[in-house]
Order: sequence, then C-alpha cells, then structure tokens
Amino acid sequence: MPKKTTRRRFLAAGAATAGSLALAVPAVHGAEKAKKYRTALIGSGWWGMNILNCALEEGRSQAVALCDVDRNMLDKAAAGVNEKTGTEPKKYGDYREMLEREKPEIVIVGTPDHWHALNTIDAVKAGAHVYVEKPISHTIGEGTAMVKAAREADRVVQVGTHRRVSPHNMSGMEFLKGGKAGQIGMVRSFVLYGGGPGEPTPDSDPPPGLDWDLWCGPAPLRPFNRRVHPRGFRQFLDYANGQLGDWGIHWMDQILWWTEEKWPKSVHSVGARHIRRDNTDAPDTQVVNFEFDSFTAVWEHRHFAGNNAEKHNVGCYFYGTGGTFHMGWRDGWTFYPVNPNAPIQHEEPQLHKPDDQNIPELWADFLRCIETGERPVCDIEIGHRSTVMSLLGMLSMKLGRSVHWDGDREICVDAAGTPDAEANALLTREYRAPWKYPEV
Ligand SMILES: NC(=O)c1ccc[n+]([C@@H]2O[C@H](COP(=O)([O-])OP(=O)(O)OC[C@H]3O[C@@H](n4cnc5c(N)ncnc54)[C@H](O)[C@@H]3O)[C@@H](O)[C@H]2O)c1
Repeated sequence: MPKKTTRRRFLAAGAATAGSLALAVPAVHGAEKAKKYRTALIGSGWWGMNILNCALEEGRSQAVALCDVDRNMLDKAAAGVNEKTGTEPKKYGDYREMLEREKPEIVIVGTPDHWHALNTIDAVKAGAHVYVEKPISHTIGEGTAMVKAAREADRVVQVGTHRRVSPHNMSGMEFLKGGKAGQIGMVRSFVLYGGGPGEPTPDSDPPPGLDWDLWCGPAPLRPFNRRVHPRGFRQFLDYANGQLGDWGIHWMDQILWWTEEKWPKSVHSVGARHIRRDNTDAPDTQVVNFEFDSFTAVWEHRHFAGNNAEKHNVGCYFYGTGGTFHMGWRDGWTFYPVNPNAPIQHEEPQLHKPDDQNIPELWADFLRCIETGERPVCDIEIGHRSTVMSLLGMLSMKLGRSVHWDGDREICVDAAGTPDAEANALLTREYRAPWKYPEV
C-alpha cells in the first residue's frame, strides 16, 4: 500500500488532468484531524465493507450504524467493525429508519444497483454527504433525479469510480491528453473474462434473517435464488445491467475522462446469450458502438473463452496516430508505438489489497470536498454521464436498433431532434408499490 505522502503526491499531480479540480489535499489534515464523521453504511456486503474499512483506517470516520436487509451480512459486518474499532455500530434493516434515527453526516451506499437511487436521494435529503457505488443507477431517469437531489440538498456525492484517482490511470491520462499517442480516432473498451455455460440453480426459500421482499424493493419481486444474493445480482437485469453496467461503467468513465466530449451522439448495441445455460438473464456476449463527433468507441464483453490469447483482457485501447495505448487495471498502462524502432512504454499500477483498488485516495478527495465545498473528482454528475453510456448500450440492445442521445435534454431523439417515444419509455421503469420512482 503506498504511503500517504505518495498518495498526496499523486493526487496533486492529477489536478492538472482532473479538469476543474484543485486538489488542495493538505486542507483535510492538520487541525481538522480530530473531527470524526458520523458515518453509516447501507448495504454491508463485500464492497460496502471495503469502503467502510478504508474510511475507518483513514481515521476521521466513526461507524455509527450499519444497515442491511440480510441479518447474516449485518451481523458479520458489525462484528468486523467491532474488531477493528472496539465499538459495535447500531444495526438496522430499514435504511429509512436508520437515516431518521441516526442522522449520519456521511452515508456510504453499497447496495445492489436497483437500490442506489432511493438510498442516495433519501440520504442527501436527510442531510448526509454520500459515497455511492457505481453504476449510480439502474435506469437513466434515476440518475437524473439523483443529480438534482444532490444539488438541491447541496451535499457532496462521490461515486465509487476509483480509477479516476488510480496513479497509473492518472499518469496514463496525462500521456494521452498530452498527445503522446497522437490523435485518437478510436477507443475499444472491453472485459473478456471466461465463464462458460454454467448450470441452472433452483429457486429456494430465502435464508433465515434475509428480508427478501425488502431486498427486491422497487424492483420486481422474484423468487429467491442464491445466485442473485449475495453479489450475483449483476447478471440479473431486474436488479443490474450485466457486465456493461457492472464493469463497463469503469471503462466508459475512462473514455469520458479522456475526451472533451460529454456524451456520445448515437449508440448501437447487439447482445445475446449464445453460451450461457444458467438462470441469469444478462447477455454473455455484447458489443456496443458509440459515435462521438471526433472518434468512435466500442465496448465488447464475453463470458467464455477466457485465456491470455489477447494479451490484455480488461481495459481500453486508445488507438492514435502515434500508436496504441492500453489503459488497464492490474497490468497498468502500456504504449505500443507505431514506429517499430521506438521503445514500448509501460507503467505499473499502485493498488491497495485485498481487492486491488484505490478507495483510500477517493475517500480522501470526498472528505476534502466535504470540508471545502468543492465538487469531488467523481462527482455525481460525472458518475451519471458514465452510467448513462452503459445504460444507453443496454437500451439500444433491448430495442434492437440505434438510439440518438440528446445529452442536454437527457432524452433520445430521432435524426431531426424529435423525441423518440419508444426509446424514452425505457429511460425509466415501473417501481413496485409502495416504492415511487424518483421525480425530477
Ligand atoms: N467500485 C468498484 O470497483 C466496485 C466493486 C465491487 C462492487 N461495486 C458495487 O458495489 C455494490 C454492491 O456490490 P457487492 O458486490 O458488495 O454486493 P453484495 O451482495 O456483497 O452486497 C450488497 C448488500 O446490500 C444488501 N442490501 C440489499 N438491499 C438493501 C437495502 N434496501 N438496504 C440495506 N441493504 C441492502 C444486501 O443484503 C447485501 O448484503 C454494487 O452496486 C456494485 O456494483 C463496486
């Protein structure tokens, strides 16, 4: 794990590439160090606990409460906090009750995607600053409502796209933005992991201690299946958006970080379940084309044929007149020049164990912005635009045709700019009563 001074140096170095950011990191240290934020976690599973642990290790958060609809997850998480800090947080099953009673200053949202919007909107309305996981929403309209709620409540909302503060991603962006790969005409983003057909898993009774109705919440209530919870919801389209929504958003975010353009003008996707025979319903194969004014971007994933045949199996290739730049994860970044005599350039990543992430850097930026009132490096509006790219891919795949995006109005349009009613019907979805789709 890099030392704090190293992190600070990288954050400061990243200010130039992070647009409007002025990463005055020292402001969060010194006299304010004694301050402990009343911090609560909604969704105490794998990633939620990763964030909370980073917050506790940073030193200025007190875990006052945890909320989870699964008592088994909750008890394990609370015991973990107790072991770390010597105090056990209060435990809740309903996040609304927790917000009301605890009045936390900071809320971490680590629930499955279909809950992010309501959790975040209710938390900022209750006065909390929020660190919400990616993708910020399950449908595009939820994201629009989240941005509005954050602005109206004047709260800091940081999105968990921690690659924006990963040292190698930051230096890679400097490389690209500095023109060292020449003019970029195409970007190919991809996650090529194995998997294969799999086996169907039968539905069953929910385990004791799990409030399955509340887990499903605003999404359709389906019979419990242990492939869905914990962690498996990613491949069930009622609760998430498959590989493009889960992994794709990280790489959509890299594309939007690199380009000066705010959104693609048109999107076309095809996807299928060619191989999978299990009971998930997300595509095992998907390709998306995004047309921007100055370049073309592609997303590609498949859940079979996992091997090293293609050298890099996750990330983005930026294809420029000077060469091919691969922005990766555990493999850092690598630049392959067009000139065969020029040396290949490479930078190793600096990631934190156990899950090879850069959450501490993102948490530091979050606290800094709470204290200065500035917009964080992964502000909700930035996370929304990156999520929109993924969700437009899903929308086009479901419609079976291209969609044109008017990012100013956040609607789909036809070539003449007239609203596309069929596509726009998929920007939102029916919520299951008594939950209400967030209004804009
Ligand atoms: N930024 C990253 O790199 C990264 C990595 C992994 C996961 N994530 C994101 O984190 C989120 C959680 O993923 P995970 O793998 O930790 O899932 P998980 O299943 O391990 O944890 C989610 C928890 O939320 C609980 N939950 C569901 N509905 C709830 C509700 N209404 N109130 C309280 N708790 C509720 C579940 O019971 C579960 O314990 C996802 O959105 C995922 O995309 C981000």
